[in-house]
Amino acid sequence: GLLASLPLCAQRSQVLRPIHRLLSCPRTVAAEIKREEQSSGSVETGDGAVSSVCSVAATHRGRGKGEETGIAGERVACGHGRGAFGNRGLYAVVEFCQKESVTSLQNGTRTPSMGTEAAIPFRSRVFNLKTKNPSNPTSEQSRVQCSIHAPPSSKKLLELLCYAESIDDQLNTLLKELQLTEENTKLRYLTCSLIEDIAAAYFLDCTVRPFGSSVNSFGKLGCDLDMFLDLDEIGKFSANKTSGNFLMEFQVKNVPSERIATQKILSVIGECLDHFGPGCVGVQKILNARCPLVRFSHQASGFQCDLTTNNRIALKSSELLYIYGALDSRVRALVFSIRCWARAHSLTSSIPGSWITNFSLTMMVIFFLQRRSPPILPTLDSLKTLADAEDKCVIEGHNCTFVRDLNKIKPSGNTETLELLLKEFFEYFGNFAFNKNSINIRQGREQNKPESSPLHIQNPFETSLNISKNVSQSQLQKFVDLARESAWILNQEDKDRPSSSRSQPWGLAALLMPSVVNSASLAKRVRKKPASERIKSLLESIKSSSPENATSTNGK
Ligand code: GTP
Ligand code: MG
Repeated sequence: GLLASLPLCAQRSQVLRPIHRLLSCPRTVAAEIKREEQSSGSVETGDGAVSSVCSVAATHRGRGKGEETGIAGERVACGHGRGAFGNRGLYAVVEFCQKESVTSLQNGTRTPSMGTEAAIPFRSRVFNLKTKNPSNPTSEQSRVQCSIHAPPSSKKLLELLCYAESIDDQLNTLLKELQLTEENTKLRYLTCSLIEDIAAAYFLDCTVRPFGSSVNSFGKLGCDLDMFLDLDEIGKFSANKTSGNFLMEFQVKNVPSERIATQKILSVIGECLDHFGPGCVGVQKILNARCPLVRFSHQASGFQCDLTTNNRIALKSSELLYIYGALDSRVRALVFSIRCWARAHSLTSSIPGSWITNFSLTMMVIFFLQRRSPPILPTLDSLKTLADAEDKCVIEGHNCTFVRDLNKIKPSGNTETLELLLKEFFEYFGNFAFNKNSINIRQGREQNKPESSPLHIQNPFETSLNISKNVSQSQLQKFVDLARESAWILNQEDKDRPSSSRSQPWGLAALLMPSVVNSASLAKRVRKKPASERIKSLLESIKSSSPENATSTNGK
């Protein structure tokens, strides 16, 4: 009866923050606690540990007594969610010992009467909890204990970076402040399981799993939630049931291709989310994309979700990135900083287009770390060599095998600092021969580009594909220019450091300031700065007038 300790006390002055101290999947329910008057408080979790106090800017006066509601939760978490559409609520997540308790709770819950509107009576695991008599609030001082898991504001982040001891410290601070918390990750799993409930109305034993940056260890607080609707599990369960001379198969509807099957399934699930899914809003079916998907906002969790199916290779890519992220503590710190740097300068965007993606940027960092001497990361081919029978994985004819036991991978002997790696990253890609070379993490070395896209990054598993085919020449040029400018800023930093004033943004903070790096005058200065380099590139351009050099992103 841990919900007994749920209710609230008045602490009006604090700032509203999302809480996500939550627990996983089908045994979990989420309840939004309706507030009728202004107050706030803290929730006590089952173990009695008090985390940060969470305040309520919206109004609240609620009691959530386990005995009264019939909820006998094993663990309780509580806090404020801010949905993508600005709705506010105090959310509690309760994990039960037994799945039947959730059914029992659902059985004791009513569908609201809506006045002029009508309710779709879908019985989800998200409930609203209201006081029966709002005009007669309890006088009991009640406590709501919450965890705070919102990313710091940009201002706060810059401040933290400016106070850091070194550039290495800055990169680690950025990682610490922006990485997904355990609770946020659990909320992602919970959200997947809520969507799974809806899909299971059609596909009984389906599973919905998170992939992408929610699980690959490179996700920032606030990143989207990529979901994979796995229907293959259904086949696995029934495989054992055949016996004797007979083979039982379901009579199914056949369609001309896998792609059409995917589109049909996602179309129907999209409709269900739109029509029945509590808190699923802004549903868009993007079925003609290379990888068909349904995009929507999940209000209770506040996540922007992308649901795909038949996309198993992306799950494997997420696993591979996770392995790379876990191999050396510098990897995630560097990837986070490069992702933030790219976002700060609008090199990446949440809208699809001709810009570089976070996935491509991560590949570039991995490739760069494979190129260090000695290498910081192993090639994908060497991870494949280390794999054993259990790791074997072939998806649609593509060999996706790599070792998954980290203990089998020898740690790198490279001891370069993050500061050096950051600077070298910008120098490396500021001078990379994108016009003729492809980035290839499978072999860990540059290869001739097989096609003429401005940026070619080989898809690690579908090796004939380019993951950055969408990137235009002008976006690539912007990346190269910014990389050079950033390398220059870091080089200046080296020279100025003893006398530099730390009240100004410095190091990584300076790189994240759009006003500084984007300034045209600085760009000119950077290009003018090393006269020897200018003369060198001038000489080179005179020496050779081949078409290859004419399209080069180097030496401009
Ligand atoms: P965020 O920008 O934080 O969402 O990073 P992300 O890694 O989650 O990227 P995104 O949501 O765009 O894509 C989710 C996952 O799909 C990635 O992690 C990859 O595994 C996969 N993916 C994305 N883009 C491509 C692509 O162009 N080709 C292939 N093969 N896989 C991709
Ligand atoms: Mg994503």
